[in-house]
Amino acid sequence: VFPPRIFSGIQPSGGLTLGNYLGALRRFAEKQDAGIETIYCLVDLHAITVWQEPERLRHQTREAAAAFIASGIDPARSILFNQSQVSAHAELGWMFNCVARLGWMNRMTQFKDKVGKNAEKASLGLYAYPSLMAADILVYHATHVPVGEDQKQHVELTRDIAAKFNHDYGVDFFPMPEPVIEGAATRVMSLRDGTKKMSKSDPSDASRINLTDDADTIAQKFRKARTDPDPLPDNLDGLRDRPEARNLVNIYAALSGKTAQQVVEEFAGQGFGAFKPALADLAVSVLAPISTEMTRLMADPAEIDRILGQGAARAEAIAQPILARTMDIMGM
Ligand code: ADP
Ligand code: NA
Repeated sequence: VFPPRIFSGIQPSGGLTLGNYLGALRRFAEKQDAGIETIYCLVDLHAITVWQEPERLRHQTREAAAAFIASGIDPARSILFNQSQVSAHAELGWMFNCVARLGWMNRMTQFKDKVGKNAEKASLGLYAYPSLMAADILVYHATHVPVGEDQKQHVELTRDIAAKFNHDYGVDFFPMPEPVIEGAATRVMSLRDGTKKMSKSDPSDASRINLTDDADTIAQKFRKARTDPDPLPDNLDGLRDRPEARNLVNIYAALSGKTAQQVVEEFAGQGFGAFKPALADLAVSVLAPISTEMTRLMADPAEIDRILGQGAARAEAIAQPILARTMDIMGM
C-alpha cells in the first residue's frame, strides 16, 4: 500500500566527515538513480539538542547542503532541505513524544554513549531525539531509511512508534520503515580510537577526516592514525583483534570499491609505513573534487538558501497533508 520512498538526514552540527560520506552521502547519491523518490534533510532541530553557536550553525547548515550537492545529490531529482523550515517535523515529533514510552527511550544506546555519566546535564531534546527522528521519517510515509549501523536502533524505534500509533488508533496509517544498511564501511571508526565511530562531534579533529581537509592535512591525519607495528596479513582473520588496522583497510576498500579481502591481498606483508600513504593518496583523489565543488558552492550562500527553500516547499507539500491526517486521527 505504501509506495517506496527514501528518507534520510544528517545533522549540520559540524563539518561533515569521511564517515558521513562513505556511510551516508555517497549512498544517498546512488539511491537517487534507482527511480525511487528520495528526500534528504539537514536535521538542524537534532543538532540543537546539544549547544550550537548560532552563526556557526547557520554556516554549517549551508556547508552541509554544499557537501550533499558536491557528493552528487541533485536538488532537482532529490528533495534537499532544512528540517526547521518544515514545521510538520516538530509538530509530529510532539505527537510521537506522546506515543513513545519512556522505557523505549531508556534503551537507546546512542543517548547513553553520548552523555556518559552526565545524563542529568543532557537536554530533554537529546533524550527525545529518536522520537523526532521517527517523525522525520514518518511525516513522509517513508519506507526506506539508508543509515549507518549506528542509526539502526533509532529506525527500529521508529517502527515501534508507527506500530503503536496504528494499533492504538486502529488504523493502518504509518508504514513500517526499514533501515537500509549495506556496503563496506557502514561504520567508519575514529583514527585515534578504533572502538569509537568517526564523528563530526568528536572533540579531537585528528580523529576524523573532514570533507574540507586539504591534501596535506589528510596525509598527516592518516600518518598519525593509531595502528600497531605489525605488517598487513594476507587475509582478514589476521585483522580480527586489530580494530585500528581493520578500520584503515575498510576505508581503503570503501574508497576503492574493492573488498577488504582484496585490499589485504594487495598489501600483504607491507607495514603501515607503506599502506598509509597509499590510503591518503586514494582518499585525496576521492575527496579533492568534492571539497573543490563545496568551495565553489559556498561562494554563493544565497544560491544555497534558494535551493534549500525550494526543497522545503516540496517537502512541505508532502508532509502537511500527512500531519493533518494524523491530527484528525487523534481527534484534533
Ligand atoms: P555524526 O556522528 O558525524 O554527527 P550523524 O549522526 O549526523 O553523524 O549521522 C549522519 C549519517 O551519517 C547517518 O546516516 C550515520 O549513520 C552516518 N554516519 C555517521 N558517522 C558515520 C561513520 N563513522 N561511519 C559510517 N556512517 C556514519
Ligand atoms: Na551524531
